[in-house]
Amino acid sequence: PHVAVLMGGWSAEREVSLRSGKACADALESVGYPVTRIDVGRDIALRLADLKPDVVLNVTHGRPGEDGTLSAILEVMRIPYSHSGVMSSALAMDKAMAKRVLSASGIAVPGGLRVHRLEAAREHLIARPYVVKPNAEGSSIGVFIVTAEHEHPPQELNSAEWGLDETVLVEPFIAGRELTCAVMGDRALAVIEIVQDNRFYDYEAKYAPGGSRHLIPAPLKPNIYSEVQRLSLAAHHALGCKGVSRADFRYDDTPGGTGDLVCLEVNTQPGMTGTSLVPDMAAHEGISFAELVEWMVLDASL
Ligand code: DAL
Ligand code: MG
Repeated sequence: PHVAVLMGGWSAEREVSLRSGKACADALESVGYPVTRIDVGRDIALRLADLKPDVVLNVTHGRPGEDGTLSAILEVMRIPYSHSGVMSSALAMDKAMAKRVLSASGIAVPGGLRVHRLEAAREHLIARPYVVKPNAEGSSIGVFIVTAEHEHPPQELNSAEWGLDETVLVEPFIAGRELTCAVMGDRALAVIEIVQDNRFYDYEAKYAPGGSRHLIPAPLKPNIYSEVQRLSLAAHHALGCKGVSRADFRYDDTPGGTGDLVCLEVNTQPGMTGTSLVPDMAAHEGISFAELVEWMVLDASL
């Protein structure tokens, strides 16, 4: 089948998507697929109508590919596409809405508030330490950790050059370990623990070579390890995801901590770059990068 690999778009994660897209397109070509690489612009429907691909591999992050709008165009055009459908993508991209759905399914999520960024800039709305993050962005772009040392909320939230989602979440900071687990179809892949020397798993730690280390399999007690896998599958199902998704967790096993596994979010278009997590999880299960990408293409549907 002729595959259109869709990447880029106009979100803050555009550069990440171009890297993910290149990696996927190269892999498909290496196993013999005819591939057309498309940087998603406002003319995407016209380009697809012209090209008539058999299937779309969606490798965008953020808008418009991860929020369901691109899925909707593909539904209307009757072109099979990879990853999640319209509703699941829209739900997962809106972290506040996703938290409601996950919580209703018995999955622990962070508490906190959903406010306009200017409100979060004005005063500390909850006790420090807390996290402020755009409601609908990814790759830790626009995320701030506010500790007791910060007298004021991050003033970047006030900036005229903000350029990210106007709605932000203010959530209590959850101490502990950073865990993540992907779902591929009906199975959970290996759990990774992320370790970095940085303040937190920020953009730099995610994409600079050596910015973070992936411990795989995550060094957890077997019951915790399988609980992360179970919760990842449960989150995938709760949001109605398809294909590959990745759920991110904090695990507070600090002395006196809650011991809870808290789901921060589900990514319906997880990164596929050289430093990304899902390719490592698949490799640990004996699935090569090319096999993973080919699976996404074969799994594509309407
Ligand atoms: N949002 C980035 C691409 C990820 O979740 O991997
Ligand atoms: Mg994300």
